[in-house]
Amino acid sequence: MTKKQLRSQAWFGRQDKMGFYYRSFLKNRGFPQDQFDGRPVIGICNTWSELNPCNSHFRTIAEHVRYGVLDAGGFPLEFPVSSLGEVTMRPTAMLYRNLASMDVEEAIRAHPLDGVVLLMGCDKTTPALIMGAASADLPTIGVSGGPQLRGVYRGQMIGSGTNIISMSEQLRAGEITLDEFHEAEAGMNRSSGHCMTMGTASTMASMVEALGVGLPENAAIPAVDARRNELARMAGRRIVEMVHEDLILSKILVRASFENAIRTLGAIGGSTNAVVHLLAIARRIGVELSLDDFDRLGRGVHCLVDLMPSGKFLMEDFYYAGGLPVVLRRLGERGFLHKDAPTANGRSIWENVREAQCWNDIVITPFENPFKPESGMAILRGNLAPDGAVIKPSAASPELMQHTGRAVVFENVEQMHHAVDDDSLDIDASCIMVLKNCGPKGYPGMAEVGNMPIPHKLLRQGVRDMIRISDARMSGTAYGTVVLHVAPEAAAGGPLALVRSGDLITLDVEARSLHLHVDDMGLASRRAAWVPPPARAERGYVKMYVDHVLQADQGVDLDFLVGKTGSPVPRDNH
Ligand code: FES
Repeated sequence: MTKKQLRSQAWFGRQDKMGFYYRSFLKNRGFPQDQFDGRPVIGICNTWSELNPCNSHFRTIAEHVRYGVLDAGGFPLEFPVSSLGEVTMRPTAMLYRNLASMDVEEAIRAHPLDGVVLLMGCDKTTPALIMGAASADLPTIGVSGGPQLRGVYRGQMIGSGTNIISMSEQLRAGEITLDEFHEAEAGMNRSSGHCMTMGTASTMASMVEALGVGLPENAAIPAVDARRNELARMAGRRIVEMVHEDLILSKILVRASFENAIRTLGAIGGSTNAVVHLLAIARRIGVELSLDDFDRLGRGVHCLVDLMPSGKFLMEDFYYAGGLPVVLRRLGERGFLHKDAPTANGRSIWENVREAQCWNDIVITPFENPFKPESGMAILRGNLAPDGAVIKPSAASPELMQHTGRAVVFENVEQMHHAVDDDSLDIDASCIMVLKNCGPKGYPGMAEVGNMPIPHKLLRQGVRDMIRISDARMSGTAYGTVVLHVAPEAAAGGPLALVRSGDLITLDVEARSLHLHVDDMGLASRRAAWVPPPARAERGYVKMYVDHVLQADQGVDLDFLVGKTGSPVPRDNH
């Protein structure tokens, strides 16, 4: 591509009234005339926010990207987009993922940009930015913010999310005091960065690397390690080259890249949330991907990393052991990697990882002696989930993987919270807890409430896991025998809406089956009597979301956002 063909020259290359406008107002920051001479203009898309603690160090990362862009002769311009803080946003950050993706897409298209660097960290910021960038389809490189340092409490490693869940259960069971609980809070989040377990943020940072959108080692370098800043600087240098090479995002996000990502998801024991995010990204960029691809491609893949929530180590340990390049190399050596898949640095993924060295075989286990065998996502179907449901076998209890139990049904999350610790609740450890109306439309936003708390009276008996079924999602830091993403959801009239307490349900993970023991006639009569839940919103974004959101098997995107428009130059504004 020559300088004349750069998209930004439609703004800055004009020698007329409009060219005056476009250059002059930017000169208020002291940019000299030569910045507008046809060098690539690089947008640094920043999700920094004090309301999103996981991304609160992003101004520093953006500075290092800026140095890199300048090193390579580009013109960096940083811009903010909506940030999505997982722990601070209510009712759930997922409600706003699609809104943020619209912000990203339109900001990229509206401005004089030739390439984009995406700064992503907390869970939903990663898919939101990649979805938006995919629909705009400029040269794009992803830089993750990096995980926090290990959490430490009284000499023990504690992991974000995972130990919050286990310690809150211990508090409810009276096994620890409130003072101990508060002390652990301070030890868990002791540095900048996102959750340091293999939760959704670390999973999605790994997906960025496996998809080829980020540079090698993007996934695991801790946020406060100087090498994170070095990676940001190298990304800044590289995006300028990508503009010159016209290496747009759709040349990287190809079918082979998604297949690599799905197998990587199994090999890292990653979050179930990645399923909906990868489906949504694929549908934006125009790659055919289905829920069944996750089951098919994940078969034979073992979990190689001993990281929380499935294991005991944390992302800092993963980085010191060699990080994701080691996992990718091990997948490649077993035929589970499309070795020629393209990546942002211009090399194939195999060229990037074939020399990767493992420095700790306990943290990253060999394929022949894996941390957990057969760890891909299992996609369940049956009369309770005609369009599919997801379970993460590596986080489940082996003895519950084939089980028939009596349903204990909660119509919504409020009823569940009200009833779950009531000792009069008719439930025992063999029962199956069912939660309705927590899907994309029902919550709305498909909250991470699928891993319902174990009833108090069962906790006291030592029960720590039960089968739980819902149309909700689950935090990537959570664990248990939890069936998620049931589609269609209850609020959309899926069979989940028809389940009643006392019904028998069979979960058979090996057979990939989820069956409600009610015959078709019985289900039909229940459906005739079914009344949809009342609308949760009458106006604004939430109404638009509920009216247009797609089901979990289609990525929970808004129907009118699927696909891409590219980045045609908009009309002048004067
Ligand atoms: Fe932000 Fe976990 S809360 S990554």
